[in-house]
Amino acid sequence: MAADVDKRFPVDNNPSPGEDGSLDVSPGGERLVSGSSKRPWITRALSTFLMLTIVPLIAISYKYYQDSKLLKRHEVAIKALGTEGLFVFSSLDTDHDLYLSPEEFKPIVEKLTGSPSAFSDFEEEITHDPNGETLTLEAKMKPLNLDTMTKSKDGFLGVTHSSLSGLRAWKSPSIPSMSFSASQFRAFLPPKNKGTVGDTWWVIPSELNIFSGYLPNNRYHPPVPRGKEVLIDSLLSMFHPRPFIKPRFAPQGTVACVRALSDFYVDIVFRIHAEFQLNEVPDFPFWFTPGQFTGNIIMSRDSSHIRHFLLYVPNDRTLNVDMEWLYGASESSNMEVDIGYLPQMELQATGPSTPSFIQDEEGNILDSRGGGGDPVQFVFEDIHWTSEISREDAARRLEVTFYPFKKVPYLPFSEAFERAQAENKLVHSILLWGALDDQSCSGRTLRETVLESSPVLALLNQSFISSWSLVKELEDMQANEQDPVESQRARLHLEKYSFPVEMMVALPNGTIVHHINANYFLDETSMKPDEEPTTFSFSGGFEDPSTATYISFLKEGLEKAKDYVGQ
Ligand SMILES: *[C@@H]1O[C@H](CO)[C@@H](O)[C@H](O)[C@H]1NC(C)=O
Ligand SMILES: *[C@@H]1O[C@H](CO)[C@@H](O)[C@H](O)[C@H]1NC(C)=O
Repeated sequence: MAADVDKRFPVDNNPSPGEDGSLDVSPGGERLVSGSSKRPWITRALSTFLMLTIVPLIAISYKYYQDSKLLKRHEVAIKALGTEGLFVFSSLDTDHDLYLSPEEFKPIVEKLTGSPSAFSDFEEEITHDPNGETLTLEAKMKPLNLDTMTKSKDGFLGVTHSSLSGLRAWKSPSIPSMSFSASQFRAFLPPKNKGTVGDTWWVIPSELNIFSGYLPNNRYHPPVPRGKEVLIDSLLSMFHPRPFIKPRFAPQGTVACVRALSDFYVDIVFRIHAEFQLNEVPDFPFWFTPGQFTGNIIMSRDSSHIRHFLLYVPNDRTLNVDMEWLYGASESSNMEVDIGYLPQMELQATGPSTPSFIQDEEGNILDSRGGGGDPVQFVFEDIHWTSEISREDAARRLEVTFYPFKKVPYLPFSEAFERAQAENKLVHSILLWGALDDQSCSGRTLRETVLESSPVLALLNQSFISSWSLVKELEDMQANEQDPVESQRARLHLEKYSFPVEMMVALPNGTIVHHINANYFLDETSMKPDEEPTTFSFSGGFEDPSTATYISFLKEGLEKAKDYVGQ
């Protein structure tokens, strides 16, 4: 089952991105067909005859030279380390040249000396203001509910004990309480051109897109954070020592939105995509990927004072964490995939930030923490927002920034049917095993291609009410006898479902008039490198065959619905 997901849903099987675009077309070639601009040497080679002949030759012979050099190193490494040893070595070798630079070796030094801060906090050192205010954050978590994992149904049969050791051992935050200087939170302030309510921006930009593939699975140690990453890394490190603030899959990053403004304060809502590596050598990597981290910070516009800080993993869906773990010592080894429910993971400020020292009326310096005497009581004025949007609106803007397919709203299951009834539209419904809008694998390919293409967005906006649901959610609805209408709709959906993702067109009363499985859909629309694109019927002359196919799927749905209503 897991292998099945893996074959179809990762973006492609290419080596990791960042190899200056010189990717081979063959593996996962269908995605790279339209991404040929990522191979600048080809484009340029077409421009002159000279280049047409020479550049590829140089490229080929250089590549040949590189390959044989790497092959040699690989042989030597296998001899010295064995497969498993090489796996651990490779997890540190981020540029895959089979040599470890001092930078690449750093995680090991940090582990042995136990002092990551000596290396990674230098940028913060500069901005740290000893007279500034400090904020204390407390971390809380309830461990993942193991019973919610699919694999628990057969008692984790066939799952080696070591695979889950990191997960089972993680019962509480690694740092329950930590002090920050208020100025560190400057990282959340908007750039100069993004200062009005409703503006969104990338605090940490995503470096991945559909053409760049994904980052390797065989890593244990996150890269050293830089710039604004340092703060996000410190925050998430309170939960677990190995946060990857650049997760393996797109969309990566941190997005923020100005929710409200007053003369002195700003309320910023943010959303972070990140994941944790729970296992350590000699166990194979285990990736723990919450759907998202979100929260908000209310701070003075110069970041000298923090009024409020909250960061948490939403727990309102029945499943909110994607997990993937490796079964062997190579990037192509089998991966197991599962999902589960994390009841609580949050960071909260114990109160507003306060100065460490204050002056009394006579100018004497007092320790505000009350060294000896009573602690000083601070009184904070109320904040009157002069302009604001709702928390929901801000969350939606963050969502659309991460996922352009959400430019059309996706409503909860029952709400979608009610709306469809009221507006006399059809329901475009996607039923998945894992969530569509988090970072889990099931919906990745779908949302990054067809669902965000503008012709599909336009047709969905015009004629459909969209919704997506988890299989688990609909199973719960189906079992609920309190609501027979909803229960029947859920049953009709589940009858037409097959793993991993089913796209459906439904009448407002729940009857499914048309459906297509995602695996079938992807097989149909994947272009083999040597295939002529004309094998597909291009209804509207779209460049992308999957867009054309999805448009025809939706139009067929509209046709079939007509037949129904006509009868
Ligand atoms: C959806 O349709 C409405 C009304 O026709 C329009 O205002 C809106 O911009 C459309 N949205 C998208 C994403 O096409
Ligand atoms: C929904 O409506 C269609 C057309 O009126 C009808 O054929 C179908 O049986 C109805 N389905 C349910 C579940 O009531």
